[in-house]
Amino acid sequence: MAGLDLLPAVIDLVAVLLLALGIKGLSKVSTARSANGLAALAMGLAVLGLLIQQPLSAQAWLWIAIGTAAGGLLGLVTAQRVPMTAMPETVALFNGCGGMASLLVALGVALYSPGGAPGLVEQISIVISVFVGAITFSGSIVAMGKLQGWIDTPGWTQSSLRHGVNISLAVACLAGSITLPGAMAGAPLWVLVVASSLLGIGVTLPIGGADMPVVISLLNSYSGVAAAAAGFVVGSQLLIVAGAMVGAAGLILTQVMCTGMNRSLVSVLFGGALGGAAPVGGGGDEAGYTRITSCSAEECALALEAAERVVFVPGYGLAVAQAQHALRELSKLLEAHGVEVTYAIHPVAGRMPGHMNVLLAEADVPYEQLLEMDTINPEFPRTDVVIVLGANDVVNPDAKSDSSSPLFGMPVLEVDQARQVFVVKRSLGAGYAGIKNALFELPQTAMVFGDAKAVLNGLLSELRSMGVGKKVAA
Ligand code: TAP
Repeated sequence: MAGLDLLPAVIDLVAVLLLALGIKGLSKVSTARSANGLAALAMGLAVLGLLIQQPLSAQAWLWIAIGTAAGGLLGLVTAQRVPMTAMPETVALFNGCGGMASLLVALGVALYSPGGAPGLVEQISIVISVFVGAITFSGSIVAMGKLQGWIDTPGWTQSSLRHGVNISLAVACLAGSITLPGAMAGAPLWVLVVASSLLGIGVTLPIGGADMPVVISLLNSYSGVAAAAAGFVVGSQLLIVAGAMVGAAGLILTQVMCTGMNRSLVSVLFGGALGGAAPVGGGGDEAGYTRITSCSAEECALALEAAERVVFVPGYGLAVAQAQHALRELSKLLEAHGVEVTYAIHPVAGRMPGHMNVLLAEADVPYEQLLEMDTINPEFPRTDVVIVLGANDVVNPDAKSDSSSPLFGMPVLEVDQARQVFVVKRSLGAGYAGIKNALFELPQTAMVFGDAKAVLNGLLSELRSMGVGKKVAA
């Protein structure tokens, strides 16, 4: 019997270990898929561990089964249907759900106190869980709405009025928090819930589209903090540890993204909609370019055929075009021709952390060919041909040399150092930052206009017609 009593604790321990291994495994593309499986297993075990500790009625089991089936089905359908390009919105929604779950757990304990009146630690945890959970929930929903284009940035949020509104809401939160412990189920609780929810909206609404993924990463961290606080509320060590891990991991990711985008967290949160007017995923002003050279897929193929060393630079447009498989095919063709092929990966290329790694992994590009910015930059001067595929901001040399550029200071892939550069995109439209790209006018650059997948397929047929693919076919 004593062994059975220990079972929930053992399950919790195993779940925590699996979760830690899962988070560690996510840091490498090669282990990310299995790491995700480990983390999911940990979550399943955590639920099991919790359920076997509870003396539950048949009706409670029925509700749990209904909730599990409905939630599981929703998650399954969402995961299968959401396109890669809509992943940031999906993550925002999941963060929101995490925040709401912590908020509801804390509300449940505050309103019904199933284990008797909450002690001081529980009371403080309830305040934190309600406050952070509500901000995470409402902020994440606004973030998702903005990324989906459902919510615009209202004009007043770009004036100092928003600081007044947010400070008033923060004061209301503070008043609710201070008075809450004395009146757990009373008005202060609802003041805190409403004011925190409005504060989440007030803080997220002014933030520009370009900064939204940083905010989503930060909200992810908040959802971890809310979960850890909820762990203290219900006395679950597993929830405390898991929440703390998510909180810390989200914070580190936020820092990495801020560095990659050359933004400070303070300017993201309080600087207004910088970059907010930027068109998401291209478009923009095509005027202003005077020295553009464009070329056909045939000319680009000739350069590739003669090259010894080729670097591909994938960007957001490659994901939009879903051209990763065509790119892999082209690489194989060139490698069979004796060309050394690598891929240059910028930390914020695309629209979410690791976007390009995931995209290229889908097409079975070997991990060792993916070179990070610090490794590939010194290699560009000895590179014959660089093909930029749907990337724009991450290869803009103004980030290094033009102090008036909004990108100034952001580390970029120094493709301008290569002997020849071909930029594949549909137009001269801007990237996420909404600005001109000096690379397009350099003498060694030629634009190959077209959808990335169509151009890559064109290159494949040109190279094959030159006989370059013969060795592969043999
Ligand atoms: P962007 O600068 O956004 O440029 C993407 C380019 O792809 C556009 O100029 C567009 O030009 C082209 N494009 C779109 N559809 C295409 C298609 N079907 N075929 C060919 N080209 C296509 O991309 P990037 O260089 O990857 O930079 C990422 C940007 O997003 C950075 O500014 C970064 O700070 C920001 N950002 C990144 C993240 C993360 S974590 N990755 C998060 C938030 C923001 P056309 O319209 O002319 O084709």
